[in-house]
Amino acid sequence: MQLCDGESMISAADSAQLVDAGRYAREGYPHELWTRLRAEAPVAYCAPPGYRPFWAITKHADITQIASQPLRFSSAQGIVIGPADAPIVPSDMVVAMDPPRHGPMRRLTSRHFTPRAVRERRDEVERIAVEIVDAAATGGAIHECDFVESIAAPLPIAVVSLVLGVPSADWQLLFRWTNEVIGKDDPEFQLPGETPDQTSMRARRELHAYFGALIEQRRRDPQDDLVSELIRAEIDGEPLTRSQLLSYCELMVEAGNETTRNAITGGLLAFSEHRGEWEKLRDHPELLPGAVEEILRWVSPITHFTRTATEDCEIRGERIGAGEQVALFFASANRDEEVFDDPFAFRIDRHPNPHLAFGFGEHLCLGAHVARVELETIFRHLLARLEWFEVSGPVERLKSVVNGGVKHLPLRYRLT
Ligand code: HEM
Repeated sequence: MQLCDGESMISAADSAQLVDAGRYAREGYPHELWTRLRAEAPVAYCAPPGYRPFWAITKHADITQIASQPLRFSSAQGIVIGPADAPIVPSDMVVAMDPPRHGPMRRLTSRHFTPRAVRERRDEVERIAVEIVDAAATGGAIHECDFVESIAAPLPIAVVSLVLGVPSADWQLLFRWTNEVIGKDDPEFQLPGETPDQTSMRARRELHAYFGALIEQRRRDPQDDLVSELIRAEIDGEPLTRSQLLSYCELMVEAGNETTRNAITGGLLAFSEHRGEWEKLRDHPELLPGAVEEILRWVSPITHFTRTATEDCEIRGERIGAGEQVALFFASANRDEEVFDDPFAFRIDRHPNPHLAFGFGEHLCLGAHVARVELETIFRHLLARLEWFEVSGPVERLKSVVNGGVKHLPLRYRLT
């Protein structure tokens, strides 16, 4: 049902800006527009031509309210803004499930992601981070690198692979598939002649074939990894179907990789633009956990996820109809002036910092503690060893309305 009376509809230009992947790539996040929406139309109806209409939710309080009601606001009918003609395909991914299916599926792996379980992995993360930073060391000389490829991307790939049990020889494959699925709209990741959907479908087919083979291998020879555990797992006495197993592996690869990579890259960019905060952190390494939270708030690697209203409801006086889509702009909530003092200042000692970079409520990011440990570890080593750095070329951003990605960050630096 369409209840919008037209008054809450924002201009065609504003709507178009929210879904224009090319603009995100050229100019970064539309913070000016989000700021205006938070002030003037925090629950705004958007109907960009060619897209499924949606309500843009830009305030922190509204997003937490919606994300806490998974039965009224479903994740099962699409989780991102998309073209009007995109079919809604039922998904076996935990992120696209509602209660009561969601909880048991999430709990199958959640013990691997508790703070304690993650603490036990600290040594492995530490070892990989040291390897990465060692490989980028320059002695006393000044070198140039693509920070994304040399430093930000390898750590999350290695960590997700360790959790899943993917051998290191295949990590490069995961890098490519993540780029192609998440970056399907970006010409850099499309094969000649491919449409974005063809790119992501091809990459997903290859990823499923890979994990299909890994699953068969682990059935014969179980190891101490998540794939082996998922094979053994049961819900209501039934083992997971092949599709459920593959979806779980795919989600881990896609959710854990690009996001963390972009947080690391975005963090370094933030420090390059706020040198005082870098120096402050060097002088006070004990501020690192808080700095990581501020990086997450500042970068907000995921712009939005969506929900679909299952019944008519009202938010801030706007009537949202059953079946209508709401887009929760986490990245806007993280600049909400009602929640954050001076939200456009990057301050490593910001406290409190109730950011929504990991979402909120039922689907709160399962990998949040893993991501935090990765960020803390890599920045601890960079703070100790990166003696000097400057961005030495254009920052190339990903063409995507969901992932605020940086594809390439040319960096000139000296690292001991
Ligand atoms: C900085 C890094 C990360 C960011 C910003 C991030 C962001 C998010 C967000 C916003 C959601 C909420 C989805 C929703 O509300 O619909 C989410 C869910 C999820 N994330 Fe992350 N994530 C990160 C790292 C990771 C890592 C490292 C993993 C796994 C190794 C992971 C696994 C997941 C999973 C499985 C879900 C679905 C949870 C559920 O539906 O119950 N994420 N993430």
